[in-house]
Amino acid sequence: MAINLAVFASGAGSNAQKIIDYFKGNSNVQVRLIVCNNAEAGVLGIALHEKITSLLIERGRFFKEDSYLPVLKNYEIDWIILAGFLWKIPAKMIAAYPQKIINIHPALLPKYGGKGMYGLHVHRAVLDAGDPESGITIHYVDEQYDHGLTIFQAKCPVAKDDTPDSLAQKIHVLEHKYFPQIIEQVILKKNKP
Ligand code: GAR
Repeated sequence: MAINLAVFASGAGSNAQKIIDYFKGNSNVQVRLIVCNNAEAGVLGIALHEKITSLLIERGRFFKEDSYLPVLKNYEIDWIILAGFLWKIPAKMIAAYPQKIINIHPALLPKYGGKGMYGLHVHRAVLDAGDPESGITIHYVDEQYDHGLTIFQAKCPVAKDDTPDSLAQKIHVLEHKYFPQIIEQVILKKNKP
């Protein structure tokens, strides 16, 4: 039976698209569900186009009620992949998926992580600090923002004339190249018989 992924994303969804493409036709691992908290998000169009079920979640239920865990169970979700998802993951979800929730962050953690550090805010902070390099961090999710054990990092140079947008593009190149393959490696290692 295939290992089922739920991809949580609330933005354009370019990482979600790469993950979907990477696992297409793979009989061991499949993207089973797209979970999103923003009805306007581009990722919902991707889900529609790819004929993958999407679940639009609501804040109250996510944080104060059952965190949609019964729904994830119905879809037999084995792993949760955060690809541009900005809400903190509730403790009960972390407990239900121990070391089975993976996030991507667009900087070299522990720098530039934490609440409010997402997307262009991160790239602006890197540029303001004058850092010569930035990169991506793929990590397990724990109860603090951008804090769990690091799985993988990759770096890119920051040029003097980079803008938040140009840096975001460089970061996306790294994310698209590495995120799907690192997900696969981590899953296969954990699910080894
Ligand atoms: C990605 O760069 C991801 O690292 C970032 O949001 C972007 C989503 O892009 N995540 C965070 O900032 C989380 N703190 P996408 O919607 O095109 O995949």
